[in-house]
Amino acid sequence: MKKKTLGVGIIGGGFNARFHIRSWVGVRDADVLGIYDPDKKRAEEAVGLARKLDVGEARAYKSITDMVSDPKIDALWISAPNFTRIEVMEEIVQALEKGKGELIGVCCEKPLGRNVKEASRMLELARRAKLLDGYLENQVFAPPVVRGKTIVWARGASLTGRPYLARAAEEHSGPHMPWFWEGSLQGGGVLNDMMCHSVEVARFMLTPPGAGRGVLTPTKITAYASCLKWQIAEYAKALWDSSGGKTDYLKRPAEDFARSLVEYKDDKGQIVVVETTTSWCYVGAGLRLSMELLGPEYSLQINSLDAGLKVFFSRRVKGKAGEDLVEKQNAEVGLMPVVSDEENEYGYTGENRHMVQSFLKGVRPGENFEDGVGVAELLMAAYMSAEKEKTLAFPPPGLANFVPAVAKGTWNPKKA
Ligand SMILES: NC(=O)c1ccc[n+]([C@@H]2O[C@H](COP(=O)([O-])OP(=O)(O)OC[C@H]3O[C@@H](n4cnc5c(N)ncnc54)[C@H](O)[C@@H]3O)[C@@H](O)[C@H]2O)c1
Repeated sequence: MKKKTLGVGIIGGGFNARFHIRSWVGVRDADVLGIYDPDKKRAEEAVGLARKLDVGEARAYKSITDMVSDPKIDALWISAPNFTRIEVMEEIVQALEKGKGELIGVCCEKPLGRNVKEASRMLELARRAKLLDGYLENQVFAPPVVRGKTIVWARGASLTGRPYLARAAEEHSGPHMPWFWEGSLQGGGVLNDMMCHSVEVARFMLTPPGAGRGVLTPTKITAYASCLKWQIAEYAKALWDSSGGKTDYLKRPAEDFARSLVEYKDDKGQIVVVETTTSWCYVGAGLRLSMELLGPEYSLQINSLDAGLKVFFSRRVKGKAGEDLVEKQNAEVGLMPVVSDEENEYGYTGENRHMVQSFLKGVRPGENFEDGVGVAELLMAAYMSAEKEKTLAFPPPGLANFVPAVAKGTWNPKKA
């Protein structure tokens, strides 16, 4: 008999897992039943949140293998740090191959790997274990993106021609945990961490509704990366202090600002362009996602900080610093935008609903590990272009094994 409710286990119980758990109040036909995190406190916090929100009778498991072995668990969501991707996926596949349990599918957070080699290995392992695979790129499920794309293609593109330019930007004041700042652990700096969203959401908006990734072929890429804020002595010291002396941006920085321009050809040979900007040195109310899609007689604009709800606090309101108004909030006074349903607005709810429905129907999700590999290829080509300070034809030679200088700890724009 076909499963009616999917039992989900989450690997990693940190910041992102909490977003997924909160989104679950809007996801039908699945329960969050398990959390594995080597940090027991984190695991228990995530379990507590799932139970408090009534999105599943979650419990903490002592290992990934243990979670795979439980017949109640049908699918796993990987939300552990980037540097653990391969060991996590290998443990899942080994547990399955040893007959410890059965799974329908696995979803993995962005980025699928720290480079093309790792992302390809993730895809290979999922195939070997015959798992359905979902790549967790929430922005392609964000309601303004989905709704905007549908309207623009149905009204504007059908009458006056396809869109030819998509812009996407993700900007905030810097990640919440020290490992994100370390090129070797995270895979790079802001380019790897956040341009993964921007290149994919922009490609998605330029792709006709219902069409696959193959409709657009990347032909050229130009990128730029620098470290604008976090190599300034005062800010480098703040990173040093907050990481207990591990993160040294004077010697081993990662880029906090990056841009890319990707030229594609569509299936009729028309040139279309994706322009992205990402930064960890943006100062504003908090996380800002912006997108634009432009065609011959129309355009679309999204700005996540143009929120419907705004609050104002006078200077006499001297409360605690928090993230209760918006992700990566920078201030507590003045006129502040509030993203009132972040899980939904950023796309987590739609994303998880799509993954759950795909797994229950036994079909591959629309956003899957092949897309994750495609994104890794674009990002690594962008690093190559930024390092060479040149526009590169896509795919550039050596892409499959390329590791950015920032991930090797040898990049330093100050020295250059
Ligand atoms: N889609 C998005 O917008 C978005 C946002 C934030 C993070 N992410 C991604 O989600 C992943 C997790 O990021 P985060 O912000 O939650 O980081 P985090 O550091 O807040 O949480 C990671 C958790 O994983 C645990 N962990 C460490 N090693 C592990 C292992 N081997 N197995 C299982 N758990 C392990 C840690 O103890 C920690 O609790 C990253 O890959 C990140 O890129 C995506």
